[in-house]
Amino acid sequence: MSQHVKIFDTTLRDGEQALPASLTVKEKLQIALALEKLGVDIIEAGFPVSSPGDFESVKTIAKEVKNSIVCGLSRALPKDIDACGEALRIAERFRIHTFIATSDIHVGTKLKKSQDEVVEMAVAAVKHARQYTDDVEFSCEDAGRTHIDYLCRMVESAIKAGATTVNIPDTVGYTTPTEFGSIIQQLFNRVPNIDQATISVHCHNDLGLAVANSLAAVEQGARQVECTVNGIGERAGNSSLEEIAMILQTRNERYGLTTSINSQEIHRTSKLVSQLCNMPVQANKAIVGANAFAHSSGIHQDGVLKGQNTYEIMTPESVGLNKNQLNLTSRSGRHVIKHRLTELGYAESDYDLEEVYASFLRLADKKGQVFDYDLEALLFFNQQKHEE
Ligand code: KIV
Ligand code: ZN
Repeated sequence: MSQHVKIFDTTLRDGEQALPASLTVKEKLQIALALEKLGVDIIEAGFPVSSPGDFESVKTIAKEVKNSIVCGLSRALPKDIDACGEALRIAERFRIHTFIATSDIHVGTKLKKSQDEVVEMAVAAVKHARQYTDDVEFSCEDAGRTHIDYLCRMVESAIKAGATTVNIPDTVGYTTPTEFGSIIQQLFNRVPNIDQATISVHCHNDLGLAVANSLAAVEQGARQVECTVNGIGERAGNSSLEEIAMILQTRNERYGLTTSINSQEIHRTSKLVSQLCNMPVQANKAIVGANAFAHSSGIHQDGVLKGQNTYEIMTPESVGLNKNQLNLTSRSGRHVIKHRLTELGYAESDYDLEEVYASFLRLADKKGQVFDYDLEALLFFNQQKHEE
């Protein structure tokens, strides 16, 4: 089995569909070029049949992106697939992604069809898409709530019809890691032609388990993860790209798996997506939140100054940040105050550390975080006191 996990980014499709205001073609292209630089294997650029604007942006991205595969989404309907083929044909390499729901609740309530009819539609859609390209992905929407016997039948039929990637979405973020991992394991055990396709997963975050579920699936052999930058997406969002990439990089000794992500581009891409999509990133968000590399406790700050890996499992540089941040608060010790004053250009002989530290604590107790300009003011007042 391959040791490479493909990163399929759907920021511009699943991510964009959940934004309060849609992005312009120019903004989508800007994001697509950043994703290409980040090293994603496949960029899902949009849903061409859904609107003329989306068609236009998929076409523009297909024309400009050279190093990633450009993908378009389509329902299992000929007109959707034709729109995808039309928008994408200019691309160097492209993929058509077609999907249909497979859970009882979706098949009965939404599609109002029999299971046999849905299999027929899926097979016909994959065959139709194969007329445009050899790279066809098929998704079983709501796979997380689909009966395993029917899911096995659907996956086998889609591969037989020519799907080269089969995606298993947990569309409503319902499963837990043990359950989702077991679905993937059963597919590998029961579907006879499974090794003829890449098994992909697409997890939503309704219970905060999207990344954990994706990882459980990778442990069972899934080799494509669908995700978005900053985890944006429908409702509570999708699996977060930066978390998946950094888990596989940081814990390489455990998994032995690679991705093509250039992790030093993570921060820049996260900022761009947040700004263009008008979606702020929460401060304590893993990898890209403002506090992800900020230390506030004095014990932690002292540890980090003695050896960065005492309290950092990855370096800020590895995700494209200049350095970590030591927040000066009433929990900070003398060591970090001296360190910060040295960084600000002061020699030890310029101040009395005990005196500065005592006034620093008084200020921090009143104010909370003490900034560089506060510290310099304290130094100035103390110097003035001595001169009087
Ligand atoms: O969540 C989902 O099931 C989807 C499919 C279209 C892949 O977004
Ligand atoms: Zn989705």
